[in-house]
Amino acid sequence: MKKFVAHKITDLEAVAIEIITRSSFPTIILVEGDLGAGKTALAKKIGEQLGLSANQIKSPTFSMLNSYKISGNLTFHHLDLYRQKQLDEILLQTLAEIIEDRHALVYIEWPQLLTEWLQQFPLLQKFKLVIEMKSKNERHLTLTEI
Ligand SMILES: Nc1ncnc2c1ncn2[C@@H]1O[C@H](COP(=O)(O)OP(=O)(O)OP(=O)(O)O)[C@@H](O)[C@H]1O
Ligand SMILES: [Mg+2]
Repeated sequence: MKKFVAHKITDLEAVAIEIITRSSFPTIILVEGDLGAGKTALAKKIGEQLGLSANQIKSPTFSMLNSYKISGNLTFHHLDLYRQKQLDEILLQTLAEIIEDRHALVYIEWPQLLTEWLQQFPLLQKFKLVIEMKSKNERHLTLTEI
């Protein structure tokens, strides 16, 4: 388990680097935190570290899934399941295909619905990241490999 404290957006760079360097691919990151905790902000930092530009990465609030091709075969998949009230077969099928790809980094906001479903992939590398807002300018991020 590793803990980080972020006072500003740029402090998320260290978290992004930690996640990327520990990823063996395929890797899934389950990101928990209240509305506005900074889940999408960290996704942008991960994308930036992978060579994307920050404004290329849009929150998948409505699209549910945004996928970005990175040079060197890697694909960064960013999901936001906030609007998903129950598991959708098409989504599960898509996710199953995504994690069959050895070069996938999958970042999921509001992942709670998937916890049980993911148990059928015991060999998949998974991280849980919890973001807690302590005050407007202090966020605690706890990264655990699960
Ligand atoms: N570490 C941080 N330091 C300062 N501001 C931050 C930090 N992380 C996020 N913010 C700011 O907080 C606001 C909300 O962030 P963001 O959209 O990433 O939250 P979210 O967790 O994705 O929310 P949602 O649950 O609605 O998807 C944004 O304006 C963002 O710039
Ligand atoms: Mg978000």
